[in-house]
Amino acid sequence: MSNRTFTMIKPDATSKGYTGAILDQIIKAGFSIKAMKWIKLSHAQAGEFYAVHKERVFYGELVDFMSSGPIVAAILEKDNAVADFRTLIGATNPANAEEGTIRKRFAASIGENAVHGSDSDENAAIEGSFFFSGLERF
Ligand code: CMP
Repeated sequence: MSNRTFTMIKPDATSKGYTGAILDQIIKAGFSIKAMKWIKLSHAQAGEFYAVHKERVFYGELVDFMSSGPIVAAILEKDNAVADFRTLIGATNPANAEEGTIRKRFAASIGENAVHGSDSDENAAIEGSFFFSGLERF
């Protein structure tokens, strides 16, 4: 069990001014920030990050959306980080998310779902390394 996960606050949430409230909920849930940056992905970078989904019908829409505005990328630490963070954010489709979860509170649709959370320890490490060098994580 790893104690780190990776998240992005997506362009829908940053553009609606939800960044502070989302970070507050993450910190109050017991996660500490080990790396963080405010960044806008190019179309190519978003495509590379989500390459695992490139055969899916929604890939083009996902890449357009994720490169449409600034995001916050962060590495978070907590016991059982990957699973606990996915519980905190709720189901991918906010319509199915539990009351009080980040996606229930802040997301509009399955495509524009406010936050990303890694789905495994292995992907948390890969995704964190996509954004952060060793000098940028603590
Ligand atoms: P995320 O957790 O960032 O990982 C992959 C993303 O693909 C997911 O959140 C959704 O935003 C997006 N996604 C998944 N299914 C669909 C879908 N049916 N239509 C549009 N986007 C989707």
